[in-house]
Amino acid sequence: AAAKPAAVGPFRPLVLAHRGASADAPENTFAAFELALRQGADYIELDVQLSRDGVPFVLHDEKLERTTDGRGIASRRTMRELESLDAGGWFGEAYRGERIPRFEEVLRRYGGKIGLLVELKDPQLQPGLERAVAAALIRFGLTGEQRLEAGGPGWRRAPVIVQSFSLPSLKRLGELMPSVPLGVILSREEELEQSRLHEMADIATYANLRKQLAQPKLVRRVHGSGMAVFVWTVDRRREAVQAAAAGADGIVTDGPDRFRDWIKKTP
Ligand code: G3P
Ligand code: CA
Repeated sequence: AAAKPAAVGPFRPLVLAHRGASADAPENTFAAFELALRQGADYIELDVQLSRDGVPFVLHDEKLERTTDGRGIASRRTMRELESLDAGGWFGEAYRGERIPRFEEVLRRYGGKIGLLVELKDPQLQPGLERAVAAALIRFGLTGEQRLEAGGPGWRRAPVIVQSFSLPSLKRLGELMPSVPLGVILSREEELEQSRLHEMADIATYANLRKQLAQPKLVRRVHGSGMAVFVWTVDRRREAVQAAAAGADGIVTDGPDRFRDWIKKTP
């Protein structure tokens, strides 16, 4: 028999589909985003880069080889070149024909329909990325209403959250769009020192922690700085239960459907 779901509270953590429902469809494509929607995720997480001709597009790696039939550095290609590539065949024949999405097309299809967790990918390599992402969000009216308070049901309402490993990049985005909630991605325990967290909390509403950092003590510390906590990338039952029990407000996972069986929903 399936193990009983772990109960957590007072709120079920948000379920954020990492690069879409990427366990079951090619990451960062419309196939993965549609599946995330069908699997009941609260947010789609996606990675945004800038093409040579200044168009924001959705792809994780710096290079094209792993997830497309192209070669070389993705951001050195024009949007037209990127769109001519196949981004699904590597995952399975059924997905051949999937394309690299334009960021604006994602906003047009999903803005307001499901939450979007937008990662500014390698912003140090892509000058102008923040400006292009902000312009697209503004064009689609996804400007955020206010800087939402962490920790209560209210913060669930943000239609778009922008996140990055780079605090300077988030700062630049925040200057262009002061009302969009921001998230800082953290992978090492040293980054969770009190003083550093307080500095981040001036800019970010969320800290997105690598799963090894999902410990009650550390989560409490981040909450103490005023930020909500997401945890990435949780793909096993044990990890999901641990992150939820540690007090995570949201869990980034490749398999949003599995997550529902692991963690009991609380109203
Ligand atoms: O949400 C955090 C996670 O997406 C960061 O890692 O490499 O999957 O972009 P990566
Ligand atoms: Ca990402």
